[in-house]
Amino acid sequence: MVEHLVLYLLQVTKKVRKGFGSVIPNIEFIPDDIDALTRIFDSKGDEICALILEPIQGEGGIYPLSKEFLQKARELTSETKSLLIFDEIQCGIGRTGHLFAYQYYDVEPDIITLAKGLANGFPIGAMIVKDEFTHIFEPGIHGSTFGGNHLACRVAYETLKVLMTRDILDNVEGLSEYFFRRLYILKSQFSFIKEIRGVGLMIGIELNKPCKEIVLKCLENGLIINCTAEKVIRLLPPLNIDLETANEGLEILQKTLESFR
Ligand SMILES: Cc1ncc(COP(=O)(O)O)c(C=O)c1O
Repeated sequence: MVEHLVLYLLQVTKKVRKGFGSVIPNIEFIPDDIDALTRIFDSKGDEICALILEPIQGEGGIYPLSKEFLQKARELTSETKSLLIFDEIQCGIGRTGHLFAYQYYDVEPDIITLAKGLANGFPIGAMIVKDEFTHIFEPGIHGSTFGGNHLACRVAYETLKVLMTRDILDNVEGLSEYFFRRLYILKSQFSFIKEIRGVGLMIGIELNKPCKEIVLKCLENGLIINCTAEKVIRLLPPLNIDLETANEGLEILQKTLESFR
């Protein structure tokens, strides 16, 4: 019998696993589908120790999970006394207009992982654990040469201070609305734009063709964006971006898309 089964809901592409041999055992990858989630908890609930998911998948192509899915995930993990773990490495620290993505969804996990924006790009990673589980993972169990060093922690401290004492989270909400409004207009103008997705300032523009060339052309034109999951243009503007800069970026994007008609 499988004992500590971990369910992983992350769109792990072949590209990411290539060269790493076999995946560690006792992990099952599941789709973002409420019925599939319920079925696996019905059949294997007593074996499951954790469900790990990204509330908004980043590398996978900017796919926000639904609130209903996350509520169900919370309900099922609580019933089976398994851990609900949110990977907020991309979607945390202000991206959604809230400090943590779980606050945007109003669904509280047991563990959150953080990195990237935590120290505004300075290398750091962290894990936040609810009080009741802190005894499982005590100081000393997991070491890292550069993990949690003084400089990185200080940068994270200052980053969080700026994020929480200035109007940055409000800015994310306001500018997000503006970006989505403008991008829906772009969608109506370019038949190769399939879908606009995202939350806050974590935005995906799915095309019906690869976007690598478009991203390179944007760079030539002075706009840094990137392409994920082959056909999704990913916009992750700075959280303190102002309207004027947003307009400038959107105009470069529009002009570049024109040249790919
Ligand atoms: C959602 C997510 N989780 C985990 C990672 C890996 O983070 P790290 O490089 O800090 O190990 C990444 C990196 O892109 C990520 O986007």
